[in-house]
Amino acid sequence: MTFRIRSLPAGPWGLPIVGYLPFLGDHVYLQFDQLSKKYGPVYSLKLGSFDVVLVCDWPHLKDATSNDALLARPHSMSGNPWREHRRLSLHILRDVGLGKSTIETLVKEEIDQFLTTLDNDGESVDFKKKISRSVTNNVSILLFGHKYDYDDPAAIAISASNAEIASSFNFAGVMAFLPWLSSLVFKFELFNSNRLKKCFKTVDSHIQNEIVKHQEKNSQDVVDYIDGYLAEKKSREERNQIDDNFSIDVLKRNATAFYGAGNETISSTMAWVMIYLVKYPEYQDKIRSEIADVIGFERRPDYLDRIRMPFTMAFIHEIHRIGSVVANNLLRRASSDTKIGNYNIPKDTLVIFNFWSVNHDPKLWPNPDKFDPTRYLAEDGSKVAKPPHLIPFSAGKRNCPGEGFANVELFLYIVCILQKYRVKVKPGTEISTEAAFGLSRCPSNLPTLIFEKISNSN
Ligand code: HEM
Repeated sequence: MTFRIRSLPAGPWGLPIVGYLPFLGDHVYLQFDQLSKKYGPVYSLKLGSFDVVLVCDWPHLKDATSNDALLARPHSMSGNPWREHRRLSLHILRDVGLGKSTIETLVKEEIDQFLTTLDNDGESVDFKKKISRSVTNNVSILLFGHKYDYDDPAAIAISASNAEIASSFNFAGVMAFLPWLSSLVFKFELFNSNRLKKCFKTVDSHIQNEIVKHQEKNSQDVVDYIDGYLAEKKSREERNQIDDNFSIDVLKRNATAFYGAGNETISSTMAWVMIYLVKYPEYQDKIRSEIADVIGFERRPDYLDRIRMPFTMAFIHEIHRIGSVVANNLLRRASSDTKIGNYNIPKDTLVIFNFWSVNHDPKLWPNPDKFDPTRYLAEDGSKVAKPPHLIPFSAGKRNCPGEGFANVELFLYIVCILQKYRVKVKPGTEISTEAAFGLSRCPSNLPTLIFEKISNSN
């Protein structure tokens, strides 16, 4: 024990039992960044009874994301051989369309439906609610093989539950570090734990219903993720390869993870997109002039068009950097004693990558608080390059499995919206870039937006 404590990187002291938890505010990534100024780029602190190491600069983050001893999640979050499940998940998602044009077609159809909801005769639109419904449909297509009508009560309930879970995540995050406190909170129904429990139940029973429907369908075709998982399960059973880790419960857990991870992240990124489009109308015009040159105003965009749209891509890179929607990644755990740079990381230490610090490091980004898409462009604007230290989806063998899907969605939403509308706010509206931080970092004051139809000659 003494050896372990001594071998951790230095860091701030906390209180007995709770450690540094009581000192953490709403925007933990800012505090983690501040602490790195005092203790160095890699330091440790105690959260509850857990030793946690923070990684806050690019050289160490680069090293850590390529370290095979840092691929695990905390014991409470993983529980099954994730490597196999991850490989299978990616394989199934690829079969049903991820990385192929099938998914692009379905996403485009969904966006067509979404665009009609922005048409409000020049009146303002509650964008966050509308995009959240639309993005939920995209994940539903991937997982369940179908989407929902926007006024379907099941879709409304699941979308609201997901949003509530996401905004309570700071609270849930604290619970992850204090399991004993979490059981007390639920037992005595403190805070709004009862509501939260209900939200989890809504999502859970929705996924359960979908699984039952797929089982009853009993078809050979693999159209979606649940089909793929059930087919693999059946083929294993036929080969007598019974495996407790391959069960309906695990399928439910995986589907929940995709549902949770694929909605809030895209909705929040799109909310930042709207903020910076209305804050800088000149960037809106630049994207629209690329649309005019490459796509025109009649044809639907293809994801492939991005290759000829450097400014649009530069804008998306800068949104990822300045928005830092996933400001610090999901917890990792050291599966054996290891090192990050010269720092010792003992087995079972939890590790947090603070992407925020890297995204705002003035050594990497001159004037880091400025929103400036041109930082990715060649001098004449003809080429765009993403630097290696911009990793919104994390990096290495446990990076975001939804990255490809997310890239397709973001490009198509932005281009489809600007091909049809000029995005505006009411005159005199203040546009704030302040953030709220729950499961993701999103604008705290997205103004109500006006989508003004543009004529094709523009
Ligand atoms: C702008 C959009 C998104 C961003 C910025 C983002 C970012 C991330 C990051 C940083 C991680 C943690 C990786 C690590 O531990 O190093 C992650 C994990 C994950 N993401 Fe995403 N993501 C996005 C969209 C999506 C979408 C659309 C999906 C699904 C369709 C998805 C599914 C997942 C899943 C399932 C995990 C957990 C993977 C694992 O434990 O192995 N994400 N994401």
